[in-house]
Amino acid sequence: MNIQAPRGTYDVLPDQSAKWQEIEQKINDLCRLYQYKEIRTPIFEHTELFQRGVGDTTDIVQKEMYTFQDRGDRSLTLRPEGTASVVRSYVENKLFGMPDQPVKLFYTGPMFRYERPQAGRMRQFVQFGVEAIGSKDPAIDAEVISLAMDLYRSVGLEKLRLVINSLGDTESRVAHKEALIKHFEPSINEFCSDCQTRLEKNPLRILDCKVDRNHPLMAAAPSLADYLNAESQAYFDEVQSYLASMDIDFVVDPNLVRGLDYYNHTAFEIMSDAEGFGAITTLAGGGRYNGLVEDLGGPESPGIGFAMSIERLLLALEMEKVEIGQSNNLEVYVVAMDETTKKKAFSVVRDLRMNGISADMDFAGRKVKAQMKSADRKGAGFVIVIGETELESGNVALKEMATGEQQEMAFEELAGTILKKKSLEE
Ligand code: HAM
Repeated sequence: MNIQAPRGTYDVLPDQSAKWQEIEQKINDLCRLYQYKEIRTPIFEHTELFQRGVGDTTDIVQKEMYTFQDRGDRSLTLRPEGTASVVRSYVENKLFGMPDQPVKLFYTGPMFRYERPQAGRMRQFVQFGVEAIGSKDPAIDAEVISLAMDLYRSVGLEKLRLVINSLGDTESRVAHKEALIKHFEPSINEFCSDCQTRLEKNPLRILDCKVDRNHPLMAAAPSLADYLNAESQAYFDEVQSYLASMDIDFVVDPNLVRGLDYYNHTAFEIMSDAEGFGAITTLAGGGRYNGLVEDLGGPESPGIGFAMSIERLLLALEMEKVEIGQSNNLEVYVVAMDETTKKKAFSVVRDLRMNGISADMDFAGRKVKAQMKSADRKGAGFVIVIGETELESGNVALKEMATGEQQEMAFEELAGTILKKKSLEE
C-alpha cells in the first residue's frame, strides 16, 4: 500500500502556496505597522509547560496532546498552542527586564492537537498569534483585537462577528465559582463524568461541555457578568470604549468562556457569518492572561493575545468567494521557435529576471503551439516569440495577452517597456 499523509494533516500544493505566501506577507506587514516583533520557539516543549500553562483540566491537555518520551526518557509534547511557549521564553530569556514593556510578539507556525478532523479542524494546523506581555492597559486589549480584525479585512473578508466577554479578576471568578458549584452540585450525577471532575477542579469548564450542553441547568447557570466586581467591570468598560473609538463593532456574550485555563478579564472570539460554513465558525480566539507569567516562574507581567489558524482563514475566504494569491503569476513567457533560437530565449529570460520581471520558457522540447498553450496555462501577462527573423533583425514583438496587442521593439527595449507597462497598471 502507498504511504499517505497521516490523518488530520495535508500538503500545501503549489497551486495553493501562493495564497499562504500572500497571507504570510500580510501578517508581516501588519505586525510591522503595529510594531509586534516575531518570536520563533521550538515545536516541542516539556510536557509540564502545557500542563501548567494551558491547564490540567482542559480538553487540550487531557485529550489532545501529542506527547512522547524521547530517547533520554523526558516527556515532551508537540506544542498544541503558542501562548505557553511564548510566556516560557519571556521568562527564560528575561524579556521582562527589557525597558520597553509591554513586549509585543507574534508567531506563525504549526500546532498539533489530536482532534477529530473535519473542515477547519486539523491535527496539524498553522496558527498566527500575537502576545503583548507586560501591560494591563485596556488600550492594549483593544489594540490586539483590532490587529486580528485588520488582518481579516486586509485579505478581503467582510462577514465577521467579534464577540467579547469579561472573565473578571480572581475575586470575581471565585465568587462566580462558588455560585456555579451551588448551582450544579445537587444534580451533578446527571452530568457526564468529565463534568463531575470539573465541578471540583474547574466548574467554569462545565459551561463549555459538548456532551451536556442541552441540560436545562446549563441555560440557567449563574452568569459571570453578575459577579464581576467594580474593578473588573470598569476594565471591561474601558476595553469596549477603546473598541468603539476605532469603530470596531462587537457583541458582548456573557456565555463566552474559552477552552484554556489561563484567561481572565477580556476574552474574545472572531466568528465568520459567511454562508456555507460548517459547524465550526470560530476564526480566532484570544484573551487576557494576567498571572500566567507568574505561574511559569516570572515576575508579575500581565499579558493578552490571540491566535487564529490559517486553515480557517482560507476556509472563510472560500466561503466569501474572495480570491487571493494571484500576484505570483508569470509575467513573461518566452517562446523559442527551434533549437537555434533557444539560446537567445534563455538569455532573454535571464535578462528579464535580472530586471525583476518574472519570466519562464519551455524546458520540455515542446513545439511552438504547445509552448503558447503552456504560456496560457501559466497565466502569462506577455508572450515573446523568438525565431530566425527576430534573431537576424534584432527586433521582437511583445504580445500583451489580455488585449492581444503587439508591439515591435529591439531586444534591449523589452525589459524597460514591460516595467513601464507594469508601473502604469499599478
Ligand atoms: P484556541 O482557541 O485554542 O486558542 O485556538 C485559537 C485558534 O486556533 C482557533 O480560533 C482556530 O482558528 C485555531 N485552531 C485551534 N484548533 C484548531 C484545529 N484543530 N484546526 C485548525 N485550527 C485550529 C489558543 O490557541 C490560544 N493560544 C490563543 C491565545 C493567544 N490566547 C492568548 N494568546
